Order: sequence, then C-alpha cells, then structure tokens
Amino acid sequence: MLITIEGIDGCGKSTLMSGLQTALADLAPLFTREPGSTWIGDQVRRGIAEEIDPIAEALLFVADHAAHIAEVIRPALAGHRLVISDRYSDSRYAYQQVTLAPLVPEPLSWLRSVHGGWTIRPDRTYLLTMPIADALARLDGKDGREHFERAEVLETVQKNYLALAEEDPQRFVIVDALQEREKICSFIAGDIRNLWQW
Ligand code: TYD
Repeated sequence: MLITIEGIDGCGKSTLMSGLQTALADLAPLFTREPGSTWIGDQVRRGIAEEIDPIAEALLFVADHAAHIAEVIRPALAGHRLVISDRYSDSRYAYQQVTLAPLVPEPLSWLRSVHGGWTIRPDRTYLLTMPIADALARLDGKDGREHFERAEVLETVQKNYLALAEEDPQRFVIVDALQEREKICSFIAGDIRNLWQW
C-alpha cells in the first residue's frame, strides 16, 4: 500500500513523518521521500540551488521519481510493505505547474503525460494545508530559501494542490496543518492503520 504526504514548504511534513515512525512502528512501514531517495536526488538539489532552467529542473524531479519507483517503491510494494512517501508526483503537479507556466502551454497535462503509464498511483494522499503566512513564518528560521519558498509561489502551489484534491476526493484527505502536531499525527496514523487492516 502506498501512502503519500503532500503540502507546501513549512507545512510540517517532516515533523509528521517522524511522528508516524513512532506511531506506526509495529507495521514496519518503509519511510521514503522525494527528492532524494536515490543518487539523482543530489542532482535535483544542485539544480534547485543553481536555479537551472525550469524544464531541466522538472525533468530532474521526474528522473528522481523514476529511480525512486524502480529502486524503492516497486520492490517494497512487491514485498507487500506499507510505503509512506514524503512528497511524490503531486509535488510535481503542484510546484512544476507554477515553474513551467512561462515555458510550457499546458504544464499540468505536460507533467501528467510525462508520468503517464509508469508512475504508481498512491492509495491515499494526505494534503497538509495552512495559510501561506504561517508556513513562511515557520520557514523563517531556516538557512537560505529555495526559489520555491516565496509567498506568491507557495500561494499558487497550495491552490494547485487543492484543485488536485478536488479532482480526486477518493484518494486525497485534506488536513488542517495548524492543528496540534500530536492531533495531526494520531489522526493520520489511525487512518493509515484502518486502510492497512482493511
Ligand atoms: P523537500 O525536500 O520536501 O523540502 P525541504 O528542503 O524543506 O526538506 O523538497 C525540496 C523542494 O523541492 C521543495 O521546495 C518542494 C520542491 N519540489 C518540487 O518543486 N517538485 C517536486 O516534484 C518535489 C518532489 C519537490
């Protein structure tokens, strides 16, 4: 079973992931992430830092996804593991839809066709949402901002995420990221447990 966690920078995904490691320890899930679960992740981080061409950057994220599926996700699913990924294809659909807009006429359909036929659809996606100002305030303590971490970018990214969720309500669960951390973690852990047992 494949679970993905999505949301804008600063929404608390990392805290949630570590909470889930404790809360779901007995199910021995495989925790993974995009970008960076394979060596291509290092190239992606370099591309982000150097603010390379948005098409090149998007394709690096896709290359990382392909390697992630081949080397991590597919083998784990074949072994009937519970897999929980911090970011996945919806990150591309939400973020690269913004970065590609000046260059590609229909970024979302372009991105979908690049993923078409080989990506694996998550069984459930938790989308953490929060006001952009709060997310930015959380990012203020962080050294150096990536080019995605600007108010106007994150605003559009979150709108894109919400549109994706609206299109696919069976898969998406929208979670208010301003709630207490423990509450968010226990709700999501309980929901994953139900799905896993079902
Ligand atoms: P992430 O590692 O989640 O952020 P952090 O550095 O805070 O741990 O992701 C790095 C950045 O890359 C983040 O701003 C989101 C962006 N991103 C995309 O634009 N597209 C993608 O497909 C992915 C996976 C991430």
